[in-house]
Amino acid sequence: MDGNGRWAEGRGRDRGAGHSSGINPVRMVIEESVRHGIDALTLFAFSSENWSRPASEVAGLMDLFCESLDAELPSLQSNGVRLRFIGELSVLAAPLRARIAVASAATADNRRLQLQVALSYGGRQDILTAARALAARCERGELRSAAAQEADFASGLALAGLPDPDLFIRTGGEQRVSNFLLWNLAYAELYFTETLWPDFSAADFEIALQHYAGRQRRFGKTGAQVAL
Ligand code: IPE
Ligand code: MG
Repeated sequence: MDGNGRWAEGRGRDRGAGHSSGINPVRMVIEESVRHGIDALTLFAFSSENWSRPASEVAGLMDLFCESLDAELPSLQSNGVRLRFIGELSVLAAPLRARIAVASAATADNRRLQLQVALSYGGRQDILTAARALAARCERGELRSAAAQEADFASGLALAGLPDPDLFIRTGGEQRVSNFLLWNLAYAELYFTETLWPDFSAADFEIALQHYAGRQRRFGKTGAQVAL
């Protein structure tokens, strides 16, 4: 979800106004995902690298996460959304961690959409955590390292148990993955748009889904093989 700062600066407003305006498209993609029957949605809200931003911007974002969780929980419930958080949650301030615990527990039995919000998340850190978990299993003698399969490794990742993402959408014009779900995106279709996140509309989301629908997913095979 990139482009909040530029959206605000272009209007002569402070960057925080851009982050606040970014809540509307968050609500939209959740509702549209439910409507389309999408099983899982993961939003990159704050990276482990975003901590290096000015303290005032970081504080504003943390306040916004708290306010939004309070405000959106009822509609997440009524939409059947199971909300979970991935990332290094232990470094978040206590009020936010408390809300995360409440929202996660309150929505745990919902099944329509699995929604993950990545906070203080880094893809390399995710992989390192999984590597440590696998190493620990080997040290305990539960598994021989030479026998470890991809699934043994992936069970230690933040998105364990969820299917790999089919579609990755980045707004704001930059064409990079920026340390998002590095392992899980191996075969994701990548979609980049110049549209800044606060401007990302239901029509824009529809266009991204149409692009996805038009792609041929070969997973290493030939076009003729997958067309059969
Ligand atoms: C993304 O928008 C929001 C967060 C990282 C929280 P940016 O704040 O990166 O917006 P730009 O890239 O400066 O426009
Ligand atoms: Mg940015």
